[in-house]
Amino acid sequence: MRTQFTVNDAAYGLDVEPRLTLVDALREECGLTGTHVGCEHGVCGACTVIVDGQPVRSCLMLAVQADGTSVSTVEGLAAAGPDGEVLHPLQEAFVTHHGLQCGFCTPGMLMSALHLIETETDLTRDRIREEMSGNICRCTGYQTIVDAIESAAATMSSQAAVR
Ligand code: FES
Ligand code: FES
Repeated sequence: MRTQFTVNDAAYGLDVEPRLTLVDALREECGLTGTHVGCEHGVCGACTVIVDGQPVRSCLMLAVQADGTSVSTVEGLAAAGPDGEVLHPLQEAFVTHHGLQCGFCTPGMLMSALHLIETETDLTRDRIREEMSGNICRCTGYQTIVDAIESAAATMSSQAAVR
């Protein structure tokens, strides 16, 4: 079946089997391997991407269901700068606060955290823990992940204030 969507503002037109999941389409058809596949059952959150503004477990969504949507993945977080890529404040915060160890859960963590920061007006540590409870880190780095998200939220809010 023909399916068309944008990923990080680039247009993709794919001929796919109806059973192909979105995460497999992203990784195998689009070549965007930043989104990880863990449980394939909607449990671990490693495959989280943003589809039309909402966080989605891309292992539970079919590529054909994404037809006509706008998808954001971890590859779209860093921006082009004069001296190469500039990491997103969330990525910077994960590095600074040691929010990643093996990095397997990190793409899903980043996309869930991005949606949380962009939609939550009163972001407390409890709220971060509650929202991120759907993302599993097998390295169990939860404390530092919460630290990183809290720090990135402060950075992003101060950047928004000076604009
Ligand atoms: S791979 Fe999708 S939730 Fe685990
Ligand atoms: S950093 Fe290894 S699974 Fe989270």
